[in-house]
Amino acid sequence: MTDLVIVTDDGPIRTVRMNRPDKKNALTLAMYDAMAAAIEDAPETPALRCLLIAGTPAGFCAGNDIGDFLTMATGEGALGAPILRFLHALARCELPLVAAVQGNAVGVGTTMLMHCDHVVAAADARFSTPFVGLGLVPEAGSSLLAPRIMGHGRAFSLLVMGRPLGADKAKAAGLVNTVTAAAAVEAEAMKAAREIAALPPQGVLASRRLMRGETDEIAARIDEEAELFKTRLRSAEARAAFEAFMTRKR
Ligand code: COA
Repeated sequence: MTDLVIVTDDGPIRTVRMNRPDKKNALTLAMYDAMAAAIEDAPETPALRCLLIAGTPAGFCAGNDIGDFLTMATGEGALGAPILRFLHALARCELPLVAAVQGNAVGVGTTMLMHCDHVVAAADARFSTPFVGLGLVPEAGSSLLAPRIMGHGRAFSLLVMGRPLGADKAKAAGLVNTVTAAAAVEAEAMKAAREIAALPPQGVLASRRLMRGETDEIAARIDEEAELFKTRLRSAEARAAFEAFMTRKR
């Protein structure tokens, strides 16, 4: 397993931490695989009741590694299998998911939160999905989940217009449950995870299943988005946007 993702079990809570702070936790294929495995393997540890997804103080997640996108765009245009593996693991995860967000949550850094049951964000957290500006389309089932969470208009503003949400607006939109000081985010998220873990487990699982509805519907949307995403990855628009990011001057 890559040390760019750190998985720690503490009693009933498994923490899955993205740990590539020098790149603001941009996700590589190896990181997707490690995160998927941590979610998929959870049932093998019966003591687990809740998963906590976290980043670092440098940021939650800067989305997919754009260098990897460029490789995919200039290669055969295939979407890396680990990406789809991770997205399906999220969609099919039975255990409650809590997230602790500090700093930027970009692209999949935001859309993965739409699969979470409880999100704690730092006051400085910023949520953005610049897919369309990069020549891409929304992914991770977000075209289905975002309108459910926040309504069409707000979802359109976020997913299509690429307007970012600050922590307070993300809370008002229903993406975030609690906004707190950056230094308190992890403790607050762990508190929520422990609160969930202390509930009767079968009752939690059954209630969550009822509330989330058809997992197959979410998985099918992920696949539908991925097909379009692959086509968009090969577009001249996308390639130009990736190259501009990789060669930008600061
Ligand atoms: N892919 C690859 N590298 C990335 C990255 C990404 N998605 N996001 C950040 N990085 C790298 C930067 O290139 C930089 O690398 P360097 O130090 O070798 O030059 C390093 O991470 C730090 O990023 P920087 O932009 O200096 O940090 P910042 O705090 O000023 O800004 C972000 C943080 C997340 C707002 C900004 O990096 C960004 O917009 N990243 C791209 C996000 C994106 O479009 N993701 C794809 C979504 S579909």
